[in-house]
Amino acid sequence: MNAPWKPAGADGRDPFHAYVCDDHSLDLLRAVVQDMGWPIEKVHKGGLRNAVQSLSMAPSPNVLFVDLSESGDPLNDINNLAEVCEPGTVVIASGQVNDVRLYRDLVASGIQDYLLKPMVADTLRDALAAAQAVFLAPRAEAAADRPHMMVTVIGTRGGVGASTVTASLAYLSSTKGKRSTALLDLDVHFGTGALAMDLEPGRGLTDAVENPSRIDGLFIERAMVRASDTLALLSAEAPINQPLITDGSAYYQLEEELRSAFECTFVDLPRAVLVQHPHLVHESNLVVIVTEFTLASARDTIRILSWLKANAPQSQVIVVANKAQPGTAEIARKDFEHSIERKIDMVLPYDAKVTAQAAKLGKTVAESSRSSKLGQSLLALHNRLAAAADSDGMVDPVSSARKNSGSLIGRLMDVKLAIPRKSKAKTADEAVAD
Ligand SMILES: Nc1ncnc2c1ncn2[C@@H]1O[C@H](COP(=O)(O)OP(=O)(O)O)[C@@H](O)[C@H]1O
Ligand SMILES: [Mg+2]
Repeated sequence: MNAPWKPAGADGRDPFHAYVCDDHSLDLLRAVVQDMGWPIEKVHKGGLRNAVQSLSMAPSPNVLFVDLSESGDPLNDINNLAEVCEPGTVVIASGQVNDVRLYRDLVASGIQDYLLKPMVADTLRDALAAAQAVFLAPRAEAAADRPHMMVTVIGTRGGVGASTVTASLAYLSSTKGKRSTALLDLDVHFGTGALAMDLEPGRGLTDAVENPSRIDGLFIERAMVRASDTLALLSAEAPINQPLITDGSAYYQLEEELRSAFECTFVDLPRAVLVQHPHLVHESNLVVIVTEFTLASARDTIRILSWLKANAPQSQVIVVANKAQPGTAEIARKDFEHSIERKIDMVLPYDAKVTAQAAKLGKTVAESSRSSKLGQSLLALHNRLAAAADSDGMVDPVSSARKNSGSLIGRLMDVKLAIPRKSKAKTADEAVAD
């Protein structure tokens, strides 16, 4: 808590300014700010108006505290503040109005937090520390030397484990890979990205879809939910009583902003969204198809592979078979590979105990069960993606010289014919042992 704040940087910005309306807030802020190692003379008497006036003439601080008590129209005044405030400043507001709608509107307009008056020292200290963490979180500048890696994860069917795999890969990228990582969960109504890490999804993604014109670097900074210093996510639980209308431009703009703000982006892309908005994979370096050894998944792996040839020829495609269990596969691995006309790159074992444990802890499988076989397989998958990202020429194995030898139905018939074979259990064993 007492970590020395970096002094006014080369860019001339102060660490902290506050504009408060009453003496109690003034005294409290001075005490807490002193504890934080910030200069107390930057805690000024005077509310939002004074803040707007001062900031229109001087560089913005890293963290700004404004008291809205004397403001007749806080939302409008906050917008005025946004006009004079430089990008990057993290803003905390306080006021006397206890109204969740106001709180939500303020957060939607980019405020980091809203504290109800009279404030107490602990809450204030926590809010300032959180603002400090947001400001210090890695940004584009830190990422300049490594090219951005965008990984799109697509499940062939609901429930195959695409989101489970995405969350673990994002976690591993941010820890083992040491890349500042974003997870964009495009299942806006039923996404589980935040749930998997025991986080509140916030309104950022829903707001982005409703107001794509607001999406910029600053918006991203404020809307992302931080799982750690190096991992942030954008996920939503959009209301299900009304459709969310989008032409996909909001998603695309989010991808663009994440590209410049993070070193690595994982996009959890539901099949339905892929069909509606094919342009979302246009700049993906890697696509991970998560599938399982069933007939339906074989069919949809074939169709998605073929779709990717047309829509993401630049992408390297990795096929991952999840939930593999000895002796229970609907289709043996060999037959599956035959039908999709390529090898499966990685097989992840079925392990309900480990996934249940992860859910209970609110952690990704890769974090909560790293020594389990599933945890180790996810790490191996991460290493494979990292190696692909670090190699110079990313080629697309799907679009390489593989010939399309027959129709979809024909290839599926091959699979169906193969199912009753004696080799089924053996090859499933092989799959798990992979
Ligand atoms: N390898 C696995 N073994 C056992 N259960 C798994 C495995 N992978 C995922 N699951 C479970 O399957 C369910 C669906 O996973 P999820 O990632 O939400 O699928 P999707 O995003 O493809 O719809 C979850 O309950 C998850 O814990
Ligand atoms: Mg999912």
